[in-house]
Amino acid sequence: MSIRTICCIGAGYVGGPTMAVIADRCPGIQVTVVDLNQARIDAWNDPDLSKLPVYEPGLDAVVGRCRGRNLHFSTAVEPAIAAADMVFLSVNTPTKTKGVGAGQASDLRWIEASARQVAACAQGHTIVVEKSTLPVRTAETVQAILSAAQGDGASGGSPKTFAVLSNPEFLAEGTAIPDLEQPDRVLIGGDDPAAIEALAGVYGQWVPNDRILRTNLWSSELSKLTANAFLAQRISSINAIAALCEATGADVQEVAHAIGADSRIGRKFLKAGPGFGGSCFQKDILNLVYLCGHYGLHEVAAYWQSVVDLNSWQQHRIARLVVQRLFGTVTGKRIAVLGFAFKANTNDTRESPAIRICRDLLEEGASLFIYDPKVKSEQISSDLPETSQIVDSLNCPEAVGKWYLAKSVNDAVYQADAVIILTEWPEFADLDWSTIYTYMRHPSWLFDTRCATNWPQAVEVGFSVWVIGKGIVSNLRMR
Ligand SMILES: NC(=O)c1ccc[n+]([C@@H]2O[C@H](COP(=O)([O-])OP(=O)(O)OC[C@H]3O[C@@H](n4cnc5c(N)ncnc54)[C@H](O)[C@@H]3O)[C@@H](O)[C@H]2O)c1
Repeated sequence: MSIRTICCIGAGYVGGPTMAVIADRCPGIQVTVVDLNQARIDAWNDPDLSKLPVYEPGLDAVVGRCRGRNLHFSTAVEPAIAAADMVFLSVNTPTKTKGVGAGQASDLRWIEASARQVAACAQGHTIVVEKSTLPVRTAETVQAILSAAQGDGASGGSPKTFAVLSNPEFLAEGTAIPDLEQPDRVLIGGDDPAAIEALAGVYGQWVPNDRILRTNLWSSELSKLTANAFLAQRISSINAIAALCEATGADVQEVAHAIGADSRIGRKFLKAGPGFGGSCFQKDILNLVYLCGHYGLHEVAAYWQSVVDLNSWQQHRIARLVVQRLFGTVTGKRIAVLGFAFKANTNDTRESPAIRICRDLLEEGASLFIYDPKVKSEQISSDLPETSQIVDSLNCPEAVGKWYLAKSVNDAVYQADAVIILTEWPEFADLDWSTIYTYMRHPSWLFDTRCATNWPQAVEVGFSVWVIGKGIVSNLRMR
């Protein structure tokens, strides 16, 4: 079966970029991305490509090439499903907040709702592809919903049949376009060979066949959770060692370099920082923990839970050490927070370490001046709702436990006691610490939780400096 029309339900961080690349690489396929969220669809259709709802380097060019040609964004869900040979489910699957499994299990209400919509609106044979990250065996639920709608067409319409595939997405935010254009692998799980080959035929238009892995449904679903658990575990491991480095005089960058040279370990994902964030790692590990508990594997559940616990500990540890270094109190002190996104090159703040660190500091009474080149003030307001107060930071009244949006780095650091780097935006690598020092109150601190600045210059001009995995470096030999 060759695919001519695709519908993707969910125009988020995964659905939007993934479908844009499919449309770009497969000019013979009409791709429609649908969403219930009108504002999001309007933003995807904005003539000004800088206003797309997802910021990803290179995404604007891809959308610019295909939009209106074979890439469409719409809120008309039903006709798009009816016209599709293949429907991707790319809806959100956050952690449940209440009921059975609250705090761990995935909330599958959006998957179920979209499967029901497909069941109701599809026509003819439709291949349904799970693109969202799902607990192992979710395809059973999707299949059950679709089977109930299958028919022989006796009532007048065309016969309705379905095949279900799992095709988890491994893109990383910030590098979504290169990850989609040259994936390490594409994973397709299923038990219907014709459906598997139809999807492989789509990817095969730009991905070499030896990178398209075919597995059974459950292996595919579980591989996605496992990949995220392994990646997050590496971050927690290096962050654990960073704390030990700070205590012993070792340097985490040197340790990471030394161990990464071992080809069995490898160099990637060995960068110490304020902890992992993003919409996926924590939710996927918690989901894994829940599944292990469900199957009675309590020791396995505890093992993976410790990866999340270490991550939370790292964030609280950083907030605590800032307070300690600022003479044990930050009440009423101005602190410049540079970076709020969970990593560079994205405007996504979901589970960003910045949220927990800022909350801790606000609770201690600090006045935070937050600057991020891509994150909008409304987003920060919804992440720090209890304390929001967006005013021009230069003219704000002194306030305890409030945050302010800064429009620039200079705006953020004005009269501040400390600067905390929370996201490794490239522009922070070149900051001129001698100018910044003149704007700040003295003694002035730099806390670089990403080792992403020219901190030796900050030491040279008079800052007290703490760097992740190195500790206080003010008295160290310059390197
Ligand atoms: N963000 C990532 O980096 C990433 C990477 C790999 C996998 N994933 C997984 O992909 C899935 C989607 O993630 P995301 O980051 O794109 O989420 P998102 O929240 O950015 O987007 C999901 C979209 O689905 C829409 N939606 C929900 N129910 C709908 C329905 N019935 N009809 C139409 N639209 C509906 C929502 O309005 C929302 O815009 C999740 O399961 C996630 O775990 C995410």
